[in-house]
Amino acid sequence: MPSSMPIIIDTDPGQDDAVAILLALASPEIDVLGITAVAGNVPLRLTEKNARKICELAGKPETKVFSGAIRPMVRQLVTAEEVHGKTGLNGPQLAEPTMPLQPQHAVDFIVETLMREESGTVTLCALGPLTNVAQALNREPKIAPRIKQIVLMGGGFFEGGNVTPTAEFNIYVDPHAADVVLKSGVPIVMMPLDCTHKALTTAKRTAAFRNRGTRVCVAVADMLEFFERFDEQKYGTDGGPLHDPCVIAWLLKPELFSGRFCNVTVETASELTMGMTVADWWGVTKRPKNATFMRDIDHEGFFELLIERIGRL
Ligand code: RIB
Ligand code: CA
Repeated sequence: MPSSMPIIIDTDPGQDDAVAILLALASPEIDVLGITAVAGNVPLRLTEKNARKICELAGKPETKVFSGAIRPMVRQLVTAEEVHGKTGLNGPQLAEPTMPLQPQHAVDFIVETLMREESGTVTLCALGPLTNVAQALNREPKIAPRIKQIVLMGGGFFEGGNVTPTAEFNIYVDPHAADVVLKSGVPIVMMPLDCTHKALTTAKRTAAFRNRGTRVCVAVADMLEFFERFDEQKYGTDGGPLHDPCVIAWLLKPELFSGRFCNVTVETASELTMGMTVADWWGVTKRPKNATFMRDIDHEGFFELLIERIGRL
């Protein structure tokens, strides 16, 4: 494991985003260069505020948080208050943030950081719609070969979709941005629903956070108990899928995951399948391979990592 992995987290908090951010901030192997907020689960004015609340919950008010795209590149914004609550971070009672929001636009921060940092060292961790990432790639194409990798939560194929029968929320909100990212030539690791739906926040796992007893772990338990109810009702499962922390967990323990390098293409024309990610898992087309599409997770090991690390905060 390198001494420190410099990353930028692009995010639309969101309780699962919050757990991912806490995992990153709790892990000494990771150097969070900045957190860039994007509109997604809730509008941008809330995602940027939630990102700052999470940094203060983690005891890291020095973390740089930036505000980015207020809406997708082409389509109208679709939000998910029914899942995350009106604030986007329903569950725990978290104080209004006092740490500053950085004045620089998130897209400018992404471009400037990638042009400054040593080429091939910075990982982009995308936890929401890919609008900021795509706009950075469009604004300065020179950043593409300088990005070490993009590790993103998004998409689904064998599992279908969660916001439509065929599309996963992050990709559905901004399919045009996803298309830019998938065609960018940057190494991509995808955490689709095929993988994240196997990482359920069961009652036992939520209790493990609550019983850890720290302020942060109790807040996480409160987040999970709110966040999971929507998917428990929808899927009839014990717990709901904890999507976004899979991105950070892969950086820390890639052996927890397995998948396949294949072509992934996104639908941007048909309204019926808008935002669908078509994974050519069996290599039946000549489309160039462009992403490692994860399908399996050691979910016991995943939650052990989460509780051990976040329990340190
Ligand atoms: O479909 C799940 C994804 O959409 C997660 O990133 C969740 O936070 C929402 O943004
Ligand atoms: Ca998210």
